Amino acid sequence: MTTPFLPPQLWRRPGLHVMAMLLALVLLFLIDTATRYEVAVSVFYTVVIVAMAHVLALRGLMVLTGSCIALTWLSFFITRYGDLRAGQINMLISTVAILITGYLACRAELARAAAHEAQARLLRISRIHSLEGLATSIAHELNQPLAAIVTSGHACQRWMEQDPPNLDKARQALLRILGDADRASAIIGRVRKLSKGEPASPRPFVFNAAVREVLALSQAEIQRLDIAMRADLAAGLPLALADPVQVQQVIANLVLNAMEATALVDIARRTILVESLQLQDKLVFRVSDGGPGLPAGAQEQVFEPFWTTKHEGIGVGLSISRSIVESNGGHIWAEPHVQGGAVFAFSVPVAPQEGPA
Ligand SMILES: Nc1ncnc2c1ncn2[C@@H]1O[C@H](COP(=O)(O)OP(=O)(O)O)[C@@H](O)[C@H]1O
Ligand SMILES: [Mg+2]
Repeated sequence: MTTPFLPPQLWRRPGLHVMAMLLALVLLFLIDTATRYEVAVSVFYTVVIVAMAHVLALRGLMVLTGSCIALTWLSFFITRYGDLRAGQINMLISTVAILITGYLACRAELARAAAHEAQARLLRISRIHSLEGLATSIAHELNQPLAAIVTSGHACQRWMEQDPPNLDKARQALLRILGDADRASAIIGRVRKLSKGEPASPRPFVFNAAVREVLALSQAEIQRLDIAMRADLAAGLPLALADPVQVQQVIANLVLNAMEATALVDIARRTILVESLQLQDKLVFRVSDGGPGLPAGAQEQVFEPFWTTKHEGIGVGLSISRSIVESNGGHIWAEPHVQGGAVFAFSVPVAPQEGPA
């Protein structure tokens, strides 16, 4: 649905909302101008701004606030009856109220946009979604040559079973089979290259800062799902020696899994505890959640590629995480959780140098 009067960059949800807003503005203006009461009718413009905060984009909110103030002033200059002083005070009160409301609505809109952006960055950082998409398209791509091989194989069999066998046709079918098998193996070769991913480029970095950055990005989703998240990060850890971007991908993946798991239980059990600690020459990141926990005996299986219990899951997150962690000289594992829920942890080497983090 489109709204004829306003350019589209001003609102996020067009249609009836905007029509209702225009109607409310006109009505308020008419009442404000026509009534003789010395009350600040135009203060009610604030209601319109609050009501439209979810509909309009930032620029739209600014335009609306400006319009409300303009209408208030216009009404004041049109209305010539009544006490001039009272009118001036009313106009001032209304202007200030509208300005404050507009400012608060704009701030809320900015916060919403920031939360949205953080969520998008979290997904990008985890890279799991694009990899899952990749896995699906690989399966699709491989299916084609395999199906063609089966078809040509049947054809070849029929040419051979003829009496006398049609060797020429059978040879052609065999050539098609070889061609398709080459195509399939080329696809697998490409996947091999891709799944090796970027080579790790280890450097010393502040482990807790990397953890905090990922947690900050997941904040919006944590709040949306009503999850109580606690971070217990050890102070004075030495620097870690690993590829910080890859480590963050693993952290994001484990945190996302914990969030998805807790989303399955009632709000009272939606807790996530994130810890960092040092174990000899390794730094450990651990996340424990109050979700349903792992199926019995699945502690190792969850790291196998394509092992998933989710409807839309592909089951590559943990297997990719394991190869990332191991190529960075660490380990990843699932621990039994005493109070139900799941615990995942991974380690990376401590950087061999002086100076606490
Ligand atoms: N925090 C967790 N709580 C319960 N089960 C989990 C948790 N993390 C992972 N799992 C299990 O491990 C499986 C594999 O996880 P993963 O490799 O990330 O793939 P996906 O998330 O696509 O299923 C999940 O489907 C789920 O069954
Ligand atoms: Mg996952």
